[in-house]
Amino acid sequence: MQPKQPRWWQTGVVYEIYPRSFADANGDGVGDLAGITGRLDYLAWLGVDAIWIAPFYPSPMADFGYDVSDYTDVDPLFGSLADFDALLAAAHDRGIRVLIDYVPNHTSDQHPWFTESRSSRTSPKRDWYVWRDARPDGSPPNNWISMFAGTAWKWDEATDQFYLHTFLSEQPDLNWRNPETRDAMFDVARTWLDRGVDGFRIDVAPMVMKDPELRDNPPNPSSDELSRLGAWGTQLHLHDHAHPDMHELYRDFRRMLETYPGERVSIGELHHPDHHVWAAYYSERQAEIHVRFNFHLTYSPWTAEAVRAAVEGVQGVLPDGAWASWVLGNHDQPRFASPARAGREQARVGMLLLLTLRGTPTIYYGEEIGMVDVPIATADSRDPLERREPGRGRDPERSPMQWDASPNAGFAAPGVVPWLPLASDATTVNVAGQAENPDSVLTLTRRLIALRREHPVLHVGDYESFGPTPKGTFAFRRVGLEGRLTIALNLTGEERSIPDAGPGRVLIGTHRDRHGTEVSAVVDLRPNEAVVVESRTA
Ligand code: NOJ
Repeated sequence: MQPKQPRWWQTGVVYEIYPRSFADANGDGVGDLAGITGRLDYLAWLGVDAIWIAPFYPSPMADFGYDVSDYTDVDPLFGSLADFDALLAAAHDRGIRVLIDYVPNHTSDQHPWFTESRSSRTSPKRDWYVWRDARPDGSPPNNWISMFAGTAWKWDEATDQFYLHTFLSEQPDLNWRNPETRDAMFDVARTWLDRGVDGFRIDVAPMVMKDPELRDNPPNPSSDELSRLGAWGTQLHLHDHAHPDMHELYRDFRRMLETYPGERVSIGELHHPDHHVWAAYYSERQAEIHVRFNFHLTYSPWTAEAVRAAVEGVQGVLPDGAWASWVLGNHDQPRFASPARAGREQARVGMLLLLTLRGTPTIYYGEEIGMVDVPIATADSRDPLERREPGRGRDPERSPMQWDASPNAGFAAPGVVPWLPLASDATTVNVAGQAENPDSVLTLTRRLIALRREHPVLHVGDYESFGPTPKGTFAFRRVGLEGRLTIALNLTGEERSIPDAGPGRVLIGTHRDRHGTEVSAVVDLRPNEAVVVESRTA
């Protein structure tokens, strides 16, 4: 069913900015807030409705900002609160909403709350974090493991207890079962809402609520999707996250957001490889987190069969009235156009899929020009994860944005050393070059965003299964009062024909020469081609 009055976060397109890597205005080789402000005209030109900025708060940068030591300020590396206000105002002037990262599960071990908490067992903030005694043999309180490898417990010599850290030991987990912690974290959100932000992307949203008894996790008997998460994948995470109490928490969080004018929104990082478990995160009345990320496309092999299973799997389990969301990648995942993922030839097909599916799309910076991973040797890596579990590092997908063909690609002034190396193809793959090229991924992305905005069927129309279709192809329909669209995608490097995808007119396609052309019942697709066909008979 089409939502009666669709919300901006349902019809809009979100763009993720990893601030270290987007644009460096002050010449230190690290991107900053003023750099983002300087590129807002580009984002307005591209047509995105909102930006999500990954953390820019004061941080020792053990996990590049996901270890926050002050939730309500800006790290000098990124600028100041005045720079943030300027960015927010300039974005709003251009009709772009600003979402910021809310990191509720853990602080930095340098956060004053934690320094206080670890100062003694009787500290008034002791219970703001998760402290436990060792087991009689001196081992950690349970078998939970860190998502970044090894036990999730760190021994504190001074106070003779372990503290819990789901990520690095520099990222101690907050205890959300303590009402004072919860109030303090809600205050953090209010501070930014008062400042005018349009909402939050909530980092590892389900992690905040764990089993109150901290029971052991059982082993994972299968080598399913979790295996990509290294040691963490060896357990079934029944007790260390997503306790049902999270529903009440996020209901309260949404209520708090709704006390502010202007449709403030929460987008939760809420993935689970099992579609049904993921769907349960929606809860019955869905009055919780507005948009739930799912990484089913990101994790799926780029084959027609797997992509169909990912899309239909999500569509099939969505509760009535629930709103999906889609991403091809983010700052934790290999870039979509990388050879090891879908490959450059499929960059257009992926973008066309992302921007025609039912649900809020988020574009990761650089995806719109088909940026690929930049290999970094383990010895040169910046991401601590690479050093702990070689191969899992996330530096490759965080390389500087490729703006133009100048030295440093317009990311930083010539002569500056960027914090991560630039891609070797930056002189040929960049915004300036692609903006002038009517056949570029960027031009296609911009056209798709515009079409998605103009055509109600694309932003709110229903999803309808289509097919089966020939091997290597995937097709689906978007249907609404304003018409019927068939999206037909060829995920192979060979020609394919899809019966019954027409007749109609091609509204847009990965290859510009198809725009506005008529197709018959059988839609012929060239290698790596995808089209949106508007049916003659709606
Ligand atoms: C998920 C974030 O996307 C990732 O970059 C970070 O390392 C972890 N959460 C911990 O905050």
